[in-house]
Amino acid sequence: MEGVVDYTMRDLLTQVGGIDQCVTEFVRVSDRVLPAKVFRRLCPELLNGGKTPAGTPVVLQLLGSDPSVLAGNARKAAKLGAPGIDLNFGCPAKTVNKSKGGAVLLDTPELIHEIVKAVRLAVPREVPVTAKMRLGNKDKGLALENAAAIADANANGLAVHARTKLEGYKPPAHWEWIGRIREAVDIPVVANGEVWNWDDYQRCIEVSGCVDVMIGRGLIARPDLAKAIKHHQLNETFSSYNWDRVLKLVELYLNRVEQDIAAKYVHGRLKQWLNHLQREYQEAGILFQKIRKLKEPSSLRLALYD
Ligand SMILES: Cc1cc2nc3c(=O)[nH]c(=O)nc-3n(C[C@H](O)[C@H](O)[C@H](O)COP(=O)(O)O)c2cc1C
Repeated sequence: MEGVVDYTMRDLLTQVGGIDQCVTEFVRVSDRVLPAKVFRRLCPELLNGGKTPAGTPVVLQLLGSDPSVLAGNARKAAKLGAPGIDLNFGCPAKTVNKSKGGAVLLDTPELIHEIVKAVRLAVPREVPVTAKMRLGNKDKGLALENAAAIADANANGLAVHARTKLEGYKPPAHWEWIGRIREAVDIPVVANGEVWNWDDYQRCIEVSGCVDVMIGRGLIARPDLAKAIKHHQLNETFSSYNWDRVLKLVELYLNRVEQDIAAKYVHGRLKQWLNHLQREYQEAGILFQKIRKLKEPSSLRLALYD
């Protein structure tokens, strides 16, 4: 998740546990192959065998619209050690869509096919190439066609965020559409959208028929969600993280991002996480209000335990 699930967040969340695989924030490519330092900045895990310190593989996501440029970047990322390449056909951001990247590509299944085919051919066979799509740009009319375009180009898997770009992030996610796509293609399909707890997870796999689920905001709102799901699957009891435990993660995060990014961005990152956390933890909302006008990292840290 761009601007949210950075290296530090992936590290913290995978240390909490229950996560089988992560995907980087999208790496935007336009007209050239990016230097190695860009890939390593957005995916420092490349220097650790493509895994987080906890050992969870991190697939590198590319966003763009030019098949040969994407292919060149995918080849480079694979060479640098990415354990998988994912292609973004779902981003709704205006700036991205204006340069023909992300969800607008869902209007042109032929181009999507060309992109996946070029990337698949450019990357060694043992490195999986996957795609992430929404159900469409404005409507769902081309959902099956886009999924077929991806599968026919020999992608190794497809994650489906069960909404169109127009539907944004407005509930519900149409999991039944993921089921339709899963039945229509012969590659593994991963279900995505609106999984916030164990009940959602169960209903999502029931409706979509998928074995694997990708969780975005749910994990940022509740860092122990994947771990809780794993425990539920094994019929083990699990006591959810209380706020004190989550606050320790927030503090760790603050200490780490302070070292990773310019001081002026630290406040924004912290606010963004607290904003997600307040869905599950009332205390996060209170803290959010407390730090809203603070800027200095040192005052932010003091506010955590104020
Ligand atoms: C702030 C934000 C940033 C996101 N960045 C990305 C991204 O870089 N790549 C991607 O494939 N999806 C991205 N997404 C979409 C999520 O991966 C996911 O598909 C969407 O939030 C629905 O799943 P959820 O209900 O579990 O959050 C982003 C979503 C949000 C809210």
